[in-house]
Amino acid sequence: MDRNKIALIGGGQIGGNLALIAAEKELGDIVIFDIPKMESMVKGKALDIMQLRPHDGYDVNIIGTSDYQDIKESDVIVITAGIPRKPGMDREDLISINLSIMKDVANNVKKYAPDSFVIVISNPLDAMVYTFYKVSGFAKNKVVGMAGALDSGRFRTFIAMETGYSVQDVTCIVLGGHGDSMVPITRLATVGGVPVTDLISTERLAEIEHRTRFAGGEIVKLLGNGSAYYAPAQCAMEMAESYIKDKKRVIPCATFCEGEFGVNGYFIGVPIVIGSGGVEKILEFTLTDDEKTALNNTLDVVKKTVAETGL
Ligand code: APR
Repeated sequence: MDRNKIALIGGGQIGGNLALIAAEKELGDIVIFDIPKMESMVKGKALDIMQLRPHDGYDVNIIGTSDYQDIKESDVIVITAGIPRKPGMDREDLISINLSIMKDVANNVKKYAPDSFVIVISNPLDAMVYTFYKVSGFAKNKVVGMAGALDSGRFRTFIAMETGYSVQDVTCIVLGGHGDSMVPITRLATVGGVPVTDLISTERLAEIEHRTRFAGGEIVKLLGNGSAYYAPAQCAMEMAESYIKDKKRVIPCATFCEGEFGVNGYFIGVPIVIGSGGVEKILEFTLTDDEKTALNNTLDVVKKTVAETGL
């Protein structure tokens, strides 16, 4: 049986961790692609992970390259190409540079891996995944943005920190754009099925929601020279794994909506089922009036950033 093939477009901080996690999960052979200037660096990362295999015993191959020919016949593509945020920047500030990079990547992925399932991580996420979709012409079920997985993971983390209970038992969902206007749906968050609204005071929950919205920026400030990379890589690989193994995980992802949640023609964070068909279903549920208003606010932010792409 042929192994799956996973190509990582961008071999920087997130890209390197994506390669490591994909290898550890034995999801398939891995190609780390970057621009010619970075080819030696990604070859080095690939070789380093190759040499980690004897200790963990996983048999996948990892290569670094700057030749798009090497991504041919990839099953999954994960895109982190672009520049990350620096302190003081919000995700939207990245658009002018990352837009031209994403157009170039989309054209090459279309040419060399037209049947792949594509996960976009580059920021500003909602506009970058839209750009990939428009430029590549891929079907909407084959393109998603990694955002909600990370944002709800952050929300889960803060709830676990607050209660002292296992993060594994915290479930919750964050909808909307991958920006400070995202919408944590606190009324549906539970710890082992017990509503968090019965466990944590309203005031503290409001603070946790706020920290979740600005969690990316908190890390940018602490790192001083880039944005988060461990958790984003883990989230994207969770999505890739669900596709490769047809697990049908339910994960909030930036997904192209055509009427769902009242959103039409934009990628926005909604709960979806990921299986071998890619985005197999959007799981729509009834929102309260406040949640609807918050979703409309976040949609306005997304629309503004998407308008800047000119697509
Ligand atoms: N094609 C392929 N790779 C590219 C291109 C391109 N046209 N342009 C830049 N890259 C590469 C860079 O050379 C670099 O190695 O993308 C990589 C980005 O890596 P980092 O700078 O380390 O950034 P990282 O922290 O991995 O974040 C990547 O994800 O979360 C978002 O905001 C973040 O947009 C950023 C992206």
